[in-house]
Amino acid sequence: MIDASENITSNPRIAEGTVTMNEIIAARLSRRAMVGGLGALALTGCASGATNTVAVTKNAPPPPFNFAEIARGMDETHHVAAGYRADVLIRWGDPLFSDSPAFDPLNQSATAQRRQFGYNNDFIGYTPLGKGDADERGLLCVNHEYSSTTLMLPGVAADYPKSMTRELCAIEMAAHGGSVVEVARKGEQWSVVRGSRYNRRVTADTTPMTISGPAAGHPRMRTSVDPAGTTVSGMMNNCAGGMTPWGTWLSAEENINGNFLGELPAGHPEAANHKRMGLPGSWYQWGRFEDRYNLAKEPNEPNRFGWIVEIDPLDPTSKPKKRTALGRFKHEGCETVVAPDGRVVIYMGDDQRFDYVYKFVTKGRFDAKNRAANRDLLDEGTLFVARFDADGTIAWLPLVHGFGPLTPANGFASQADVVIEARRAGDLLGATPMDRPEDVEPDPRTGRVWVMLTNNSRRTAAQVNAANPRADNKFGHIIEIREPDGDFAATSSRWEILVRCGDPADPAVGATWNGSTSPNGWLGSPDNCALDAKGRLWVSTDGNDATGAADGLWAIGTDGGDRARGQHFFRCPVGAELCGPRFTPDGDTLFVAVQHPGDGDDNNPASFEKPATRWPDFQPNMPPRPSVVAIRREDGGPIGG
Ligand code: FEO
Ligand code: CA
Ligand code: CA
Repeated sequence: MIDASENITSNPRIAEGTVTMNEIIAARLSRRAMVGGLGALALTGCASGATNTVAVTKNAPPPPFNFAEIARGMDETHHVAAGYRADVLIRWGDPLFSDSPAFDPLNQSATAQRRQFGYNNDFIGYTPLGKGDADERGLLCVNHEYSSTTLMLPGVAADYPKSMTRELCAIEMAAHGGSVVEVARKGEQWSVVRGSRYNRRVTADTTPMTISGPAAGHPRMRTSVDPAGTTVSGMMNNCAGGMTPWGTWLSAEENINGNFLGELPAGHPEAANHKRMGLPGSWYQWGRFEDRYNLAKEPNEPNRFGWIVEIDPLDPTSKPKKRTALGRFKHEGCETVVAPDGRVVIYMGDDQRFDYVYKFVTKGRFDAKNRAANRDLLDEGTLFVARFDADGTIAWLPLVHGFGPLTPANGFASQADVVIEARRAGDLLGATPMDRPEDVEPDPRTGRVWVMLTNNSRRTAAQVNAANPRADNKFGHIIEIREPDGDFAATSSRWEILVRCGDPADPAVGATWNGSTSPNGWLGSPDNCALDAKGRLWVSTDGNDATGAADGLWAIGTDGGDRARGQHFFRCPVGAELCGPRFTPDGDTLFVAVQHPGDGDDNNPASFEKPATRWPDFQPNMPPRPSVVAIRREDGGPIGG
C-alpha cells in the first residue's frame, strides 16, 4: 500500500552524518565480542521451521534458477511459469470456523467478517505442523493490511465518503488485522482446514493486546478507555512482518495515519509527533463514529499504533503483544535471524519516502531448547537506525536515550519517548533517508541482507546519496548488506547496490540488470522478498504497473554470472500487487498473497460495481477477492528448479 506522504523533517543527513563512528564506539553500547569461528554454532530447531540459523559465510553459491519465464503483461487473471500450478487457497470472506457464515458480498456485516478471512492479504508466515510422504499440515499467519472501501463495499462509491455509516466502518475494522489458518496438503493440492482449533481472526477493533516494552504505561500511551496505557484493542494496517525462531508471528503496523481524522487541540504537545507520522491521514471515516480514531477526542490513540505485534499462532487464546522496544514507525518487514552469539536480530524498513532502515538486537539470547524462555526476548535490546556511507560502510546508530542528541533537551525524557518517536530520533542521529524501505531479509547462510527500496519519485538531484543514487527514482532498487563475518549484531556493516530496477532498454532509467536478463526479467518497485530453501532470492512488486505490466514475482540471481539477473515467475491479475511470498521449509510450496485485485487508479477508478477484474471467481455478482495462492510444481519438485 502506498502513502503519499514523506519524511517532512529537516534531517541534515542528505550527504553527511551527524554522529561519528567514534561516538558510537565510545557509547557503552558497543556490541559484545562476537564469535570468531563462523559455523561453530548451529542453533537450529526453530519452532517455526524457518531457517533462522547461525550464519555460515563460506557456503557454495546457490544453484541457478531453472524455469521457463512468463511474459510481462496485464490481464484479468494470474499466470505462473509452465510446469507449475497456482491454486487459489483462501479468499476474502472464506469461512474459517465451523460456525462461520458463507460469504455474501451484498449482505456483509462486521459479525460475519470476524468469522471469515479478512481483506487485502499481505504478509504470509508459515508454521509447519507435520509432514509425511504425500501430505503436510501447517499454519498460515496472514496480515489483512487494509480495506479498499469502495471496492469491497457495495453501494458506497457514488457518494463516498458521505455514504459511510457506523455499520460499514465496523465491517472495515473487522476486515483489517490478520488470520491464523490451518492448511493441509494432499498430493499437490492445498486446502483450508475449516474449524481447526488453531484458526483465529485478529481485528482492528476487538482483539485485546498488551503493550509491552519501554513505552508500556507511559503517559503518552494513555487514553480514556485505557488510563494505564498498557492495553489496546486491535492492530491495523499490518503490512509485512516475519516469523521468529521460536515460531511466533511478527506483524508490522504500517500506514496507521490513514485510520485517524480530526485535528488536535491547538498547541497540543503531540502535534509534531503526529505530523511526522503523517497524521491525520483521513483515509477512513472511522473517526466519525468512534472517538478513538478522532485526534480531537483521543490525541494519544495514534501512539498506540505503528508497532510490531507478536502473536503466537500455536495458542489461539494468547494475547498479542505490541513490542515497543522495536520502535514506532511505518513498519513494513520484520524478519529475524540469530547472530553467532545467540542474540536475535530483526531487520525492519520504514516505508515512507526519505525514511530509514532499522535493526533491533535483543539483549538476551535465543534458547532453541526452551520455547517459553524466548517469550519476552523482544522487550529488551537495542534498536539501531542505518547510516549508509559513501565508502560502502553502514554505521548502525543506536536509538538509546541519552546517546548523542537523544536527550531531554531535544524532547526525549526517557526511552519511551525515543521509541514512540523513533523517526525523529533517527532524524537527529543523521540516519540516511532512503527510497521507501520495505522488506529487509537476512540470509543466515551468507551473512547478507537484502533491502527492498520501492521507489521515490520525489527525490531531487540535490538529494541523491550513494545508497539512493537516482533522482526521480520511479522504479526502486535493491541493496545488499554484508554483515562482517556473518555477525548480524554488528554495528558496522558493508553495503552495495545489487540492482537498480526499471527497464534496462531505456538508458534514461539507469537500470543495472545483468545483461542476460530477458525483456520479461526486469521489474519495477520491489516490495516484499523471500529466500527459498536453497537460499535464492525472490522479489514481489507493488507498482510494477507503472512500467505497463502487472505486478508479480521475479527470481533474482545474487551470485556469480547470475548476479542481478531477473526472471519472471508469477503475474498478478490487473489492479493487484503481490505480497507475502513464503516458501515451506522444503522449498516445494510457495504461498503468495494477491492484494487488491481489480483496483483502479485516478484515471481508471474501480468500485464494487465496476471492478477492473472479478478475479478469482469471475462471477457476475461476486467482487474481486484478495486471495492467497499456493504454487506447486506439477511434479512436486522444488520451486525454481
Ligand atoms: Fe503496505 Fe509498504 O506497503
Ligand atoms: Ca508492502
Ligand atoms: Ca520477507
